[in-house]
Amino acid sequence: MPILMCPPTHFGVVYEINPWMHVASPVDPRRATDQWEALRATYRDLGAEVVLADPVPGLPDMVFTANAGVVWGDRVVLSRFRHPERQGEERPWRELFAHRGMRVLDTGGIPFEGAGDALFVGDSLVCGYGFRSDRAAIPLVARALGVDVVELELVDPRYYHLDTCFCALDAGTILFVPTAFSPASRERVRRLAGRVIEVPDGIAAGFACNAMAIGDVVVSSEAIEGLSDELRQAGYRVLGLPMGEFMKSGGGVRCLSLPVPEITAGARSGEPAG
Ligand code: ARG
Repeated sequence: MPILMCPPTHFGVVYEINPWMHVASPVDPRRATDQWEALRATYRDLGAEVVLADPVPGLPDMVFTANAGVVWGDRVVLSRFRHPERQGEERPWRELFAHRGMRVLDTGGIPFEGAGDALFVGDSLVCGYGFRSDRAAIPLVARALGVDVVELELVDPRYYHLDTCFCALDAGTILFVPTAFSPASRERVRRLAGRVIEVPDGIAAGFACNAMAIGDVVVSSEAIEGLSDELRQAGYRVLGLPMGEFMKSGGGVRCLSLPVPEITAGARSGEPAG
């Protein structure tokens, strides 16, 4: 599947909606562009196609395409952003998905932040709730996509999206940060796959879990290098990229990337999920 990315033309930290964001430590636009271009080049070198969204002025977090929605086959459940600062993204994302010929569903106004909080492990959708997505959105999303779900409660505000503390490299291999989850959810993750790698906070806070597996390569921020031994045993090699400018906004490699189906003819939109 091609990977949807959005150029960081209008990216910046101009509001604070998570504990990583500080308007007092602004983004260096040149460095952000270099980091983003390096990620794009990495995907290309690994043989993954990248498709681009048009960045919109005044929507600095549009660069985080993972938050556009959650994709399954030709369906997408569009995000409903928790914070008004990001709600302006909903329309361009709806238009983009419809233009690509996808079937666009939504949660009818219930907060839900797409692949930031909803990740597939095999055919099961693993959903995080507690900060950005409401628990009430999860059954609607499951019904809209026709999939089984696993619900996980997030409890550490630094790991406000599931993709900051959980990553399924394949159906049998998961990375996760135990302290980011309630005790019951933590146990649930430990039973989700044959190999569950527990990532210490010191590595996870460098956005190591915010990773994309492309074949046998785990692309992430530089902090992933701290997991290279465990990942080698799991059959993967790591590729760590500087992501510092995006980490200032609370994001890393996974947040900047959304696998989407190939474009198809025809366009549909607007069916409520419920
Ligand atoms: N500044 C963005 C926000 O707080 C970062 C989003 C990161 N995306 C992600 N998929 N974790 O909403």
